Amino acid sequence: MTSTEGIIGRADINDIEQILMISNTDVDAAIHAVKDNAEAIFTWDYEKGARPALNKLYEKAKNSQWNGETDLDWSINVDQEAVVVANMAANSRGAGLDVSGTCFEKWGDKEWTELGIQSQNWTLSQFMHGEQGALLCTAKIVETVPWIDAKYYASTQVMDEARHVEVFAKYLNEKLSGHYPVNAHLKMLLDDIVTDSRWDMTYLGMQIMVEGLALAAFGFMHQMTTEPLLKQLLRYVMSDEARHVAFGVLSLKEYYQELSQDEIRERQEFAFEAAVRMRDRFLQQEVWDRMGVPVKEAVNVVMHDPGQILFQQMLFAKIVPNCKKLGLLDAGDGWLRTKFTELGVIDFEHMPDTEEEYETFALADGEVAGVR
Ligand SMILES: [Fe+2]
Ligand SMILES: [Fe+2]
Repeated sequence: MTSTEGIIGRADINDIEQILMISNTDVDAAIHAVKDNAEAIFTWDYEKGARPALNKLYEKAKNSQWNGETDLDWSINVDQEAVVVANMAANSRGAGLDVSGTCFEKWGDKEWTELGIQSQNWTLSQFMHGEQGALLCTAKIVETVPWIDAKYYASTQVMDEARHVEVFAKYLNEKLSGHYPVNAHLKMLLDDIVTDSRWDMTYLGMQIMVEGLALAAFGFMHQMTTEPLLKQLLRYVMSDEARHVAFGVLSLKEYYQELSQDEIRERQEFAFEAAVRMRDRFLQQEVWDRMGVPVKEAVNVVMHDPGQILFQQMLFAKIVPNCKKLGLLDAGDGWLRTKFTELGVIDFEHMPDTEEEYETFALADGEVAGVR
C-alpha cells in the first residue's frame, strides 16, 4: 500500500505551494512523446454479441454519429465579451465572494470581464487537450482490450473523439480569442494513463475519471452558457460522452470480478490520484499568471470561494457513483471512500451511475440540426 505522498507527491492534498510547483515547462514544443508500454492484443474469438451490453452500445454508436462541420451552425456570430457579460449576469458567479484585502480588491468590471474571457479560453483549451487524450487512449484500447465487442465499440469512440477535438479546436480558433497550452496537472494524468501497461487502467483513467469529470463539466457549462453555438456543441458532445463513460463502467464491472484484493487496491489508488490531478487543474494557475496577479494569492482566494467550491465538488457527480458501481469505493477497508470523503465529494455516491442513465443523454430523432 502506498502513502498519499507516494501516490500524489505530497502529504497534504490542499498544499497550494506544492500544487503550484508543478507547471508545464515545454509549452513551445510542437509534439510530446509518451512511452506506451502496453501490448497490442489480437483475439481469434470473433463472436459478435458475446457481451450483449457492449454490442448494444456499439449499435447505438453507429447510429449516433454527427458531423462537426455540417451539423453545427458555425455562421453564428460570437461576441466573446458580450457573452462573458451575459453569462455573469445570468449566473451571478463570484457573488458573495469577499475580496477585500486581496489582490482583487481594486478590480473593476473591466478586469472581471477580462478574467471571464481568459477563463473561457483556458477552459475550452483544456477541454480540447483532454479530448486529444481521449482520442489517443481510445485508439490504445482498440489495441489492448482482449474482447472483440469492446474493440468494435472503442473504434466508434475513436471517431467520436476525433470529432470532439475537431469541434473544440474550431470553436477556439474561430470564436474565442486565444489558446492555452495543456495544464501541467492534466498532462501528468494523461501521461500516466497512456504509459500504464495494463489495459484496464486506460479505461479507469480515461472512461471513468477523465470522461466522468468531462460529462459533469460539460453539463455545467451547457447549463450556464448563454451562447447558442457552444450550447449546441456541448449537447452533442455530451450525448457521446455518456456512452463513453457507460463503456467504461460495463467493461470494468466484468473485469474487476477477476481481480485480487491487492489489484483492486491499486485501482483505488489510481482513481484517487486521477481525482486529485483533475481537481488541481481547475485552479487554472496559468490564467492567474496571464492576468498578472500573484498566483498563490489568487488560488487561495478562489479555493475559499463558495461558488468555486461547489463547482469543484460538482465535477465529481458522475465519478463517485460510477466508482461505487465498480465496487471501488468500499473494496478492502473502504480506502477510496475515506479519500473521497476528504475531498468532500462522497455525497454524490447516491446519484445515478452512468450505466443506468446514459440513454437519457441520447440525441432525440431530429435533434441534430443538419445545417448542410
Ligand atoms: Fe470526447
Ligand atoms: Fe469521450
